Amino acid sequence: MELLIQNGIVVNADGRMQADVLVQGDRIAAVGAGLSCPGAARIDAEGCFVLPGFIDTHTHFDLDTGSARTADDFITGGRAALLGGTTAVLDFATQARGGTLQEAFDAWSEKARGCSCNYGFHMAIAQWDARTEAELPQMTRLGVTSYKLYMVYDGLRLDDGAIYAALKAAKREGALVGVHCENWDVLNRRIAEVKAAGFTGPTGHPRSRPAPVEAEAVARLMRIAELAEAPVSVVHLSTAEGLSEARRARARGQEVYLETCPQYLLLTEDCYAAPDGEKYVMSPPLRTEADKAALWAALAAGEIDYIGTDHCSFTMAQKRAYAHDFARIPNGGAGVQHRGQLLYTYGVCAGRITLEQMVQLLSAGPARCFGMDGRGAVAPGMAADVVVWDPGFTGVITDTGTAHNCDNSPFAGLAVRGRAREVLLNGQHVVAEGALIAPGCGRYIPRKGYGRCR
Ligand code: URP
Ligand code: ZN
Repeated sequence: MELLIQNGIVVNADGRMQADVLVQGDRIAAVGAGLSCPGAARIDAEGCFVLPGFIDTHTHFDLDTGSARTADDFITGGRAALLGGTTAVLDFATQARGGTLQEAFDAWSEKARGCSCNYGFHMAIAQWDARTEAELPQMTRLGVTSYKLYMVYDGLRLDDGAIYAALKAAKREGALVGVHCENWDVLNRRIAEVKAAGFTGPTGHPRSRPAPVEAEAVARLMRIAELAEAPVSVVHLSTAEGLSEARRARARGQEVYLETCPQYLLLTEDCYAAPDGEKYVMSPPLRTEADKAALWAALAAGEIDYIGTDHCSFTMAQKRAYAHDFARIPNGGAGVQHRGQLLYTYGVCAGRITLEQMVQLLSAGPARCFGMDGRGAVAPGMAADVVVWDPGFTGVITDTGTAHNCDNSPFAGLAVRGRAREVLLNGQHVVAEGALIAPGCGRYIPRKGYGRCR
């Protein structure tokens, strides 16, 4: 099957050019001016940008927290991702305490069957012991080359010694470890204090987890990684203070990667006082204008490596059931469909970052850091995961007008510009005029070790 994308402006992380793109099978065969290929199907990209498919470094599809199951699984989440131009997600396969990494890999592989976008797995380690450590080489063989460790949540969190040991072991495998950084013991004390002070609803959530709860944990992680002599990544960084701690570690010569999410760039803790404040309960919580400004500045300066959504969707009914007790509201929000539009509108169109930087953050950076060889650029030989981005589109995000299976979006009410008009996945035309025309075509992406990006 041959397909020719004509008349668009190809944008990669290192520049742009007016060029056609020839796709043969699942690969890009040529990029250049005036390409012709008799018999090839054609997409006219006049007035559009031609971008490498976006990679979402942080999704939770089909997650069962024990008390709530996410509204989205890989079918609905993958569909929403693809419609937003995200051609691959890295979801968190999660080890059960007492279970093995292989069991988690098998369970997530089963969950992901029929996904509409490509996918890989980070492996979340919930129990660090000799058996888990012995499984790491097998994970590498399966193409799982990144891990997630939690400093929070009973049933998931590891102590500092386990984090230290896991970082060392992952380094031996050439794997990158991402860590959820919050101080669990302190935040639980604060939850009790905040409730005792009368803040039992959603406004109690940010009070219980202020910036130092994240910053202390980032600082501690940085020192643990320094001692382990291992690279490390901070997932969903939300504060200026946490950023400062990561900068200090980099200044010491450490290899530190940073992820943030659209919600920390665009929303503030004022949301918790809204009538539907429970919608915004996620961890870490939304922050201040000053934190947002610091994160945007860090994006522009190239200090942040990738943007994931932390798509972890719960319905309003699931959230409202605990609106009177913020500590029990299911944590997380939907975002997988809108990451590209939000970054384009509030980053590129607002003049905060260039389109090339957006490609770096959404495609090239994640591909490199997470060992997704052959992805992250529109160039000959690369996988034909391609987005035709229409910059002329305008719209407003609503709670219900989305492709995911959730009745709310933290971004509802935000105006957006641009959309993924056409999407090619593994060389197949899967989104046309913004509609999904070929569902269920996603493939598992086995990954190599991470590529040093800093
Ligand atoms: O609130 C959030 N972010 N829920 C998802 C799980 C996590 O902590 O990443
Ligand atoms: Zn998450």
